[in-house]
Amino acid sequence: MVEVGEGEKRLLEAAMKAMKHAYVLWGFRVGAAVLGNDGKAYEGCNVESWVSGLGTCAERCAINHALLHGNRRIKEVAIVVDAEKLHEPRPCGACLQYIHDFAVDSKIMIVTAKAERGRVLLETVRVRTLRELFPYPYRK
Ligand code: THU
Repeated sequence: MVEVGEGEKRLLEAAMKAMKHAYVLWGFRVGAAVLGNDGKAYEGCNVESWVSGLGTCAERCAINHALLHGNRRIKEVAIVVDAEKLHEPRPCGACLQYIHDFAVDSKIMIVTAKAERGRVLLETVRVRTLRELFPYPYRK
């Protein structure tokens, strides 16, 4: 069992703030934050389009945000999802591949939680490694 430390809580709070900016047309709000190689948190939210494939998930938005600030490697990921919308928050397969593409290694932690009325529900926090969630990444 991995400890939920202050760093994880800070990253979850950053994801929580980003969730407020989600652009939702047909799905639900998601917030993410990644810890860049520079030690800073970079947030992202999901952005939907009426053409579903044009949108982006919160995780990929956050990674692109980190890249824009010069971070080509990420050290941790936090994801927050509206409590009533999903039983188990976790990145989709496409995001797991994208996280793997930019992760320092496959041991990085993926911290997930549900949120209600703008607050992270600490009893729902789960910490898993990227390898646990995505044991067979694609690499040429
Ligand atoms: N979504 C994310 O942003 N991240 C996830 O981990 C799961 C799914 C978004 C995509 C879409 O806008 C909405 O959530 C519903 O699937």
